[in-house]
Amino acid sequence: MSIISTDISKAVALLTNEELVAIPTETVYGLAGNIYSEKAIKAIFETKKRPFFNPLIVHIPSINLLSDIVDYIPEKAQQLADAFWPGPITLVLKKKAIIPDMITAGKDTVAVRIPNHPTTLALLKQLPFPLAAPSANPFSSISPTCAQHVEDYFKDSIKMVLDGGVCESGIESTIIGFINDEPVIYRLGSTPIEAIEAVVGKIEIKNKKEVAPDAPGMLERHYAPKTKTVLTTQLLETINKYNGKRVGVITFQSEINDSAIDAQMALSKTGDLVEAASNLYQILHQLDKMQLDVIIAEKLPNYGLGKSVNDRLSRATKA
Ligand code: TXA
Ligand code: MG
Repeated sequence: MSIISTDISKAVALLTNEELVAIPTETVYGLAGNIYSEKAIKAIFETKKRPFFNPLIVHIPSINLLSDIVDYIPEKAQQLADAFWPGPITLVLKKKAIIPDMITAGKDTVAVRIPNHPTTLALLKQLPFPLAAPSANPFSSISPTCAQHVEDYFKDSIKMVLDGGVCESGIESTIIGFINDEPVIYRLGSTPIEAIEAVVGKIEIKNKKEVAPDAPGMLERHYAPKTKTVLTTQLLETINKYNGKRVGVITFQSEINDSAIDAQMALSKTGDLVEAASNLYQILHQLDKMQLDVIIAEKLPNYGLGKSVNDRLSRATKA
């Protein structure tokens, strides 16, 4: 029996009862639980097989609730919240004592955002507590962009996926932290860096592999299909290298005429980076089911959402 449903009151009942519900957002589906329920938060980590050192994002329905959760809002954080919420920007701010340590992996900061999805906003408004929600996929695998992806992962471990259709932007939120009140990008995502800089000025990207990652979404291998994946600027030469293998190809926009290819998909036939980002995970999910020996992906232009897609693809290729 399917666990996919559009019944918001059923989701309210389950969440109130400390159960998990997968929820739609404009970026990817999240695996949600009451931030104040230890039982629910533990279940999130266990269901995803996520290490406890990797903190969760708190989802709220309105900017008025921000001060319940965080202690201090730098001016540029306020400007970003005003400009982009509801929307795919997550702000990492000093947490209030009331936020459980399990949510923040013991850090003194908490990640928070207002998702821009009508179903989940309606759900959050009916709940007396915010929702912690990491992407609804097993740790380090491809994030889900439709209800079916979540059901395929978790039908035996959760009771409900709240169906909100296909996620519009299709890759995770951009995560921004603050160092001496100045914003820093911890994870590239669906809000392009250029749009952020238009609000707060030049911003540093600090999402490279580091000793102790600030946001484990920066971990080298992440967002990865089971099939070996390769990212390249030399598409034809790379395809040639896998002569005799079952090859799947992801191009930016072109179609390649080569009988050695078993499957190919373009991220955006019109060369639109926003469309390319929205199709990325859906295409990775499809190709990953085809028993290919290798998925070869073409690197996108490195600006706008092209930068975010390249970031995800490069993490998908790590062995
Ligand atoms: O678009 C999204 O952000 C989706 C939807 C469901 O909202 N959520 C999502 O969650 O991508 P998750 O758990 O897959 O990624 C959350 C990232 C992780 O890389 C985590 O390390 C980082 O946020 N994070 C959470 N709290 C943090 C904190 N206090 N400091 C630094 N990074 C934090
Ligand atoms: Mg994730």
